Amino acid sequence: MGEFAFIIHPVSGAKDVARKYRALRMLPEPVLERLLKWIPPRPISKITGITSNTGAEAHGWFVGCPLTPAQFMELPQDFVLAKIIRAARVAQGLGAKVVGLGAMTAVVGDAGVTIADNVDIAVTTGNSYTVWTAVEGARRAAELMGTDVSQARVAVMGATGSIGQVCVRIMAEEVPLVTLIGRNEPRLAKLAATVDGKADIKYTTDPTAGLKEADIVITVTSAVDTVVPGEALKPGAVVCDVARPRDVSKKVAQERPDVLVIEGGAVEVPGPVDFHFNFGFPPKTAYACMAETMILALEERYESYTLGRDLSLERVREIAALAEKHGFKLAGFRSFEKQVTEEHIEGVKRAAARR
Ligand SMILES: NC(=O)c1ccc[n+]([C@@H]2O[C@H](COP(=O)([O-])OP(=O)(O)OC[C@H]3O[C@@H](n4cnc5c(N)ncnc54)[C@H](OP(=O)(O)O)[C@@H]3O)[C@@H](O)[C@H]2O)c1
Repeated sequence: MGEFAFIIHPVSGAKDVARKYRALRMLPEPVLERLLKWIPPRPISKITGITSNTGAEAHGWFVGCPLTPAQFMELPQDFVLAKIIRAARVAQGLGAKVVGLGAMTAVVGDAGVTIADNVDIAVTTGNSYTVWTAVEGARRAAELMGTDVSQARVAVMGATGSIGQVCVRIMAEEVPLVTLIGRNEPRLAKLAATVDGKADIKYTTDPTAGLKEADIVITVTSAVDTVVPGEALKPGAVVCDVARPRDVSKKVAQERPDVLVIEGGAVEVPGPVDFHFNFGFPPKTAYACMAETMILALEERYESYTLGRDLSLERVREIAALAEKHGFKLAGFRSFEKQVTEEHIEGVKRAAARR
């Protein structure tokens, strides 16, 4: 049986730990945050029941690395990396043969390379499968909105990031225009110069300018706060928010009923899986980065599959094929913790037509 672990952390602030430790709910956020810094990584729950179409089985563990997104970015990097390494060693001690890095644990430093150098098990960021689910989710949502994807204008926010870059490369093969949005102009220019495909490539550091003509937006920054300016979005646009913490605020969805915001990277796991822990998803549903770790365990392919910031398109395609083989599927669309229904999509279309 395949064995894996996945490192998680609170994503919406220190209060998030109350999902697991209710007694802590009473403490004010700043106190909880100070406390969190000194709580060592530890197992959170056992994950059971993952059963592939092939009959292969896997089980694993969530390991908590208690720091908030802001702490991951603001505390000294050596301190943060040491804590992630401790979490990965907890995973190793539990018997996992591959460990996946969740959310900010995959973003800090060199995206997993240092972690892999300090443990004796395989490490993956899960970013290869995340890319595939982000792009596929954005495509399918656009189709539901009646958008002809082959004619769509696409914007990728966080384009110079690890996931963003590959989303750009895939979309550039399919659509007439891809706009790269980022913070660093020289890096955007360098990326733009290396993108092949049929699309015209534009780049900008101004999100408002970059978003205004986009029919499809994939947003995948590592920002701690929300960064998508809702007023800039085109009526009828689809926004696939892959970032954790989110790039799109709930306010945007409320103020722009003519825009479809979906969560990227949600995957249905095969078999009677039980996470024994509520991380905010419906039953049997996981993040794509978790799913990549599970797929490697089902394959008993204990290698550091996705590490560092340069992802390979071949690996993205390979992990998507392995996901299909084992019965992983893109989950139904969700927007701010709610299932996106056909009625909701029809409502967005009507609101877009009115605008
Ligand atoms: N849903 C899932 O299953 C899943 C799986 C894996 C990862 N993720 C999430 O995906 C996101 C990106 O991961 P990654 O590995 O691609 O990270 P990354 O390589 O560090 O790239 C992040 C990008 O975000 C940009 N950025 C950071 N702060 C920003 C801000 N305030 N405004 C605009 N852009 C900003 C960075 O730009 P600079 O170059 O200017 O710093 C960089 O281009 C993270 O939120 C991560 O948690 C989700």
